[in-house]
Amino acid sequence: MFRDITTLLKDPVGFRITITELVNRYSGMKIDLIAGIEARGFIVGSALAYQLGLGFVPIRKKGKLPAETVGHDYELEYGADRLEMHIDAISKGDRILLVDDLIATGGTAGAACKLIESIGGKIVECCFVIDLPDLGGRSRLEKQGHKVFALCEFE
Ligand code: PRP
Ligand code: ADE
Repeated sequence: MFRDITTLLKDPVGFRITITELVNRYSGMKIDLIAGIEARGFIVGSALAYQLGLGFVPIRKKGKLPAETVGHDYELEYGADRLEMHIDAISKGDRILLVDDLIATGGTAGAACKLIESIGGKIVECCFVIDLPDLGGRSRLEKQGHKVFALCEFE
């Protein structure tokens, strides 16, 4: 079952409630930057960054970023891919909130965490609108030592 967030984004009340819930959770926490994962993590992450008064760093699929990058390869349910960030996107010790729309197997977010840590970032928490717990992503990230938050779960 593909969990599609486009209808949530199109609904002004739903979109606002989603971002407001996340703002309420993260305002007051010590966070230096929000990192969002292409593509749907950009939508949620940039709205959240704007509301929290924080900068936003894109984590992109391979070959999209214009300057020098670091990358991390990861497995998907079918095949493999690579995530990249600009090498100077974060400074050593920066406290990063990782944001995506959804966690399924956790392969994408796990790769993003490794990428952030490889350039010295500290992951404050991994934040999602939706968790699909049957696919095990949350426990995979927690086993890697990360905190995980999701606004809702679907079987
Ligand atoms: C979706 C979703 C997450 C990822 C979750 O992105 O937005 O980034 O899958 O799956 P995982 O937990 O099993 O890794 P997708 O790979 O479909 O890319 P897109 O957002 O660019 O369409
Ligand atoms: N990404 C990986 N699995 C997904 C699912 N079931 N729905 C939406 N996005 C996904």
